[in-house]
Amino acid sequence: MASFRVQTPQRSYDAIVERGAVWRICDFLPAKCGKLFVVTTRDVWDLHGSCFAQIPHSVIFFPGGEANKRISEVETMAEQMIAAGADRSSAVVAFGGGIVNDTAGFLAAIFMRGIPVIQVPTTLLAQVDAAVGGKTGVNLVSGKNLLGSFHQPLVVLIDPDVLGTLPEREYRAGLYEIIKCGVIRDANLFRILDEGIAGVLAKDPTVVERIIADAVRIKAEVVSADEREGGLRRILNFGHTVGHALEAETQYSRFLHGEAVAFGMRVATVLAERVSDLKEGADIDRVIVNYGPIPSLNGISAGNLAKRLVNDKKTIQGHVHFVLPVKIGEVTVVSGLDDRIVLESIQAVLH
Ligand SMILES: NC(=O)c1ccc[n+]([C@@H]2O[C@H](COP(=O)([O-])OP(=O)(O)OC[C@H]3O[C@@H](n4cnc5c(N)ncnc54)[C@H](O)[C@@H]3O)[C@@H](O)[C@H]2O)c1
Ligand SMILES: [Zn+2]
Repeated sequence: MASFRVQTPQRSYDAIVERGAVWRICDFLPAKCGKLFVVTTRDVWDLHGSCFAQIPHSVIFFPGGEANKRISEVETMAEQMIAAGADRSSAVVAFGGGIVNDTAGFLAAIFMRGIPVIQVPTTLLAQVDAAVGGKTGVNLVSGKNLLGSFHQPLVVLIDPDVLGTLPEREYRAGLYEIIKCGVIRDANLFRILDEGIAGVLAKDPTVVERIIADAVRIKAEVVSADEREGGLRRILNFGHTVGHALEAETQYSRFLHGEAVAFGMRVATVLAERVSDLKEGADIDRVIVNYGPIPSLNGISAGNLAKRLVNDKKTIQGHVHFVLPVKIGEVTVVSGLDDRIVLESIQAVLH
């Protein structure tokens, strides 16, 4: 078992990485917990819901999918909770992938002005990213995650065993976020991913547990230093500036989030090679490519992607920020890059 402390002004809590952790949820319920609401999707419930058998609870089924990550679904779930007798002493368990973690976390954040949430992520992406750090929210028609709140959980329970049922493509999508962690902060993690790729892809339990723990440790450290993304937390956006543009350009239907981030990390690496003296660009690119392939990029316009960058939520007063590798394990945040160099870097990876 590995446990990482997340310390934020709002709350301090543990992110626990442990095989079988889902069977210990009852150990982490709030002392005077009223009714417990498990928010989940039908697929995850059918596969793993039996771990709640000994705990009194109500299940709220969320339809899943990016298209349903909307305030209307949050309202529907809140009505269901009220109908089932929820009050201010109730708590929510967010049991599912990142979409459930974000939506159920937001539900808990605003239900009767806030009730506790326990995050139990069941995709690799959610385990190493979405469930840790307290960002919750839903989409607007105008963009992703534009409605939301910081609502730190009571605890994050990360059970690598549940990944056994995760489709291979979803698993690889999560691995890209771990590659991201290696590039931004941990050269040793990067080396494990590079040299140990066979074990990682074969889901060797020891290797998987190790890389999850490393990624969670990094996320916990970064969030503890900067809960609200005023500074250090921005390094977690490595690959996300262009990744978000690719997701939006393809209506969130062609690439998984992690796959879009993989593309974005390759572009950021090319950019870093052009505007600084990054020497390990080829190594970063090789590892990202080795964990592929991502779906075909055919028909995607570099110009359209470049235009979309300015619409990103993280664009601050018109300045597009890029997280660029300085060397493996260290990145820097830059803005004001020449539009032409950005466009050429996107083109270089597209072709
Ligand atoms: N809050 C944050 O800091 C943060 C960070 C990164 C991503 N996110 C959000 O996370 C979302 C993406 O999350 P995701 O990639 O986990 O996608 P997802 O939640 O859609 O899950 C992917 C699919 O896997 C299924 N699934 C989940 N666990 C499973 C299991 N153990 N076995 C079999 N199937 C399983 C889900 O039902 C779903 O169909 C996006 O909406 C993104 O915005 C949030
Ligand atoms: Zn991400």
